[in-house]
Amino acid sequence: MTVSTNKPLLKSLSGEVQSRPPFWLMRQAGRYLPEYREARANAGSFLDLCYNPELAEEVTLQPLRRYGMDAAILFADILLIPHALGQPLAYKEGEGPVLDPIRAATELGRLDVTDIHKTLDPVYETVARLSQSIPKDCTLIGFAGAPWTVATYMVEGRGSKDYAKIKHWAYSDPVGFDVLMDILVEATTAYLLKQVAAGAEVIQIFDTWAGVLPDNEFKKWSIEPTRRIVEGLRSQYPELPVIGFPKGVGGNIIDYVRETGVTAVSLDTGTPLDWAAREVQSLVPVQGNLDPMLLVSGGVAMEDRIRQIIDTFVKNPFIFNLGHGIVPQTPPENVARLAEIVRGD
Ligand code: CP3
Repeated sequence: MTVSTNKPLLKSLSGEVQSRPPFWLMRQAGRYLPEYREARANAGSFLDLCYNPELAEEVTLQPLRRYGMDAAILFADILLIPHALGQPLAYKEGEGPVLDPIRAATELGRLDVTDIHKTLDPVYETVARLSQSIPKDCTLIGFAGAPWTVATYMVEGRGSKDYAKIKHWAYSDPVGFDVLMDILVEATTAYLLKQVAAGAEVIQIFDTWAGVLPDNEFKKWSIEPTRRIVEGLRSQYPELPVIGFPKGVGGNIIDYVRETGVTAVSLDTGTPLDWAAREVQSLVPVQGNLDPMLLVSGGVAMEDRIRQIIDTFVKNPFIFNLGHGIVPQTPPENVARLAEIVRGD
C-alpha cells in the first residue's frame, strides 16, 4: 500500500519501504537543549509552557532546526488530561509530576468531565500553528497517554516503583476502576480528535507503564481502552495513522498489534531486534529502538547499535527512534551524530 505524499514518515506508516528510514526521537524537545532551558525559564512553570501556544510551538521546532527530524511532536504532556479534568497537578524540580491522588471510585466526583477543551484549547492552537510552520516534508505528530499510564499518575499521585495503589484499586474494585478508565477513554478520544482537527497528521499513544500489568489485565486495561480510542478516532478519520507504544510488554505486543488496530508500534529498548523483525514487523511498520543511554554515551557503541537497528529493520516499513525518551544529560552533539548516521551523510 502506498499513499501520495512526499513525507517520509507517512510513507513508512503507509507500508512503504525506504532505503533511508525516516527518524524522530521521543522527547526530542527538552532539557538536553540549552534553547529549551531558556524558553522554559521564560515561560514560568512547565504547565505555563504547555499552555502557551507561541512558546510551545517554538520548543517543538527547536530540535528540527538542529537535526532536521522527519517528524515534529506537539509539545505538551500526557498529564494535561487529568489537569483538564480538574485534578490539581504540579511539576516539581527533581521530582517530576505530583498530583492530588484519587484512590477510589467514591473520589471520582472530584473530576469534572463536562468541558476539558476549555483548558486544552491552547494545545489545539499550538497544533494549528505547527501545521503551518513545520518544514514541508516533516510530519506533525499529536499524542496522548494511554488510559492505564495516565491513571497510574492519577492514582499514585506521582511516578511509582511498584504501582501498589493503582493495582490495589483495580484488583479489589475492578468495576469502580473501570469508571475511571471510561472517563479517560472518552476524554482522550475527544482530545485527540481535536488535535487531528487542528492539523495533527499522526497520533502516538504512550502506554509507558503497560509492562507492569499481568497479561489478563494488560488486555483489559491497556489493549481494550487503546482499541476503543483508535476506534473512536477512526470513526471520524478512517485513514488516520496511529502509533502505539506499549512499553515493556514483551511478546504481548503481538496481541496489542492484532487487537488495538494501531497502524504501527514503537518498540522499547529491550525488544530483541531479530525477533521483532520476524514477529512484529511482519504485521505492522515498527519504530525504535535505540537505548536512550547509548545516546548519552555516544561513540562507537552508539554508532554500531544504530547501524545494527537500521540493518535489521530497513527491509520492511520502519521509522528510526529511541526505545524511550531522550534524557536531560544527553550531549546535543551525540544527537547530531545519530542524525548523520541515520541519514547516511
Ligand atoms: O518532545 C516531546 O517528546 C514532546 C513532549 C512530551 C513531554 N512529555 C514533555 C515533557 C511528551 C510526548 C511527553 C510524554 C510523557 N510525559 C510520558 C510518556 C512518554 C515517556 O517518556 O514515558 C510520560 C510518562 C509523561 C509524564 C511526565 N512528564 C513525567 C514523568 C515528567 C517528569 C520527568 C521529566 O522528564 O522531567 C514529565 C515532565 C516533562 N514532560 C518534561 C518535558 C519536556 C520536563 C519538564 C521540564 O521541562 O521541567
